[in-house]
Amino acid sequence: METTQATGATGATGATVATGAIGAIEARYGELAESSCCMSCGTAVGLCKPEPGQVCLDLGSGRGTDVLRLAEQVGPNGHAYGIDITEAMLEKARKTAAKLGVANATFLHSELERLDLPDQTVDWVTSNCVLNHAGDKARVWREIARVMKKGGQFVVSDIYAVEPVPAEYRDDPAAIAECWAGAVTKDEYLLHILRAGLIDVRILEESEPYPKGKTRVVSFTISGRKTAANASCF
Ligand SMILES: C[S@@+](CC[C@H](N)C(=O)[O-])C[C@H]1O[C@@H](n2cnc3c(N)ncnc32)[C@H](O)[C@@H]1O
Repeated sequence: METTQATGATGATGATVATGAIGAIEARYGELAESSCCMSCGTAVGLCKPEPGQVCLDLGSGRGTDVLRLAEQVGPNGHAYGIDITEAMLEKARKTAAKLGVANATFLHSELERLDLPDQTVDWVTSNCVLNHAGDKARVWREIARVMKKGGQFVVSDIYAVEPVPAEYRDDPAAIAECWAGAVTKDEYLLHILRAGLIDVRILEESEPYPKGKTRVVSFTISGRKTAANASCF
């Protein structure tokens, strides 16, 4: 899938995301692909309960650890997909899967805002510390809803901002790549999820606020699902 700029995207608060954020993200995570440093901000994958034969998707799959865990849980009749925009991360994940002989995991080069999967493909969506990077969060959540099967579930760990992130950081590609300056407030976050038509939305984990620049953010984990009813418009 082509990598395009998620720049100048407008969130519910009217905030825009800095030009060049995608380049800064690819540069930062390209360097981290071979490291072992922790890049997570919650326990999302551990809270997913996929059954054998189901299909899972990890958004921003990084080195692929969570995808490989899901692949094991769903077994040979199921499948786990990881998507990421950083080639070095995809390469690392594919190499690990090959080394371990995992045949039911696929790593795709794809942006959060345009997932390279057909409608109603997955039973579970997970993600860890990724969605804060996205320029157009409303579109990301619409994409999540689109690729979920009816009755599908999501568990996502991410970052929200206690108060709107000041423009001096919001427009800084490096600070966005560091997993905090692209964060939106909790209210805006919930609005995007609900507007995408997802239901039963629950916050499962929430840290104390902690400082970043002149602002404060919270790490949290949120779950929800897509309605199983035929009346759904997806
Ligand atoms: C903080 S790391 C988290 C990696 C992994 N989820 C983990 O917990 O170890 C963020 C990952 O999201 C990817 N990413 C950031 N923005 C993205 C976007 N717009 N589309 C796809 N992947 C993205 C980065 O390349 C990176 O691998």
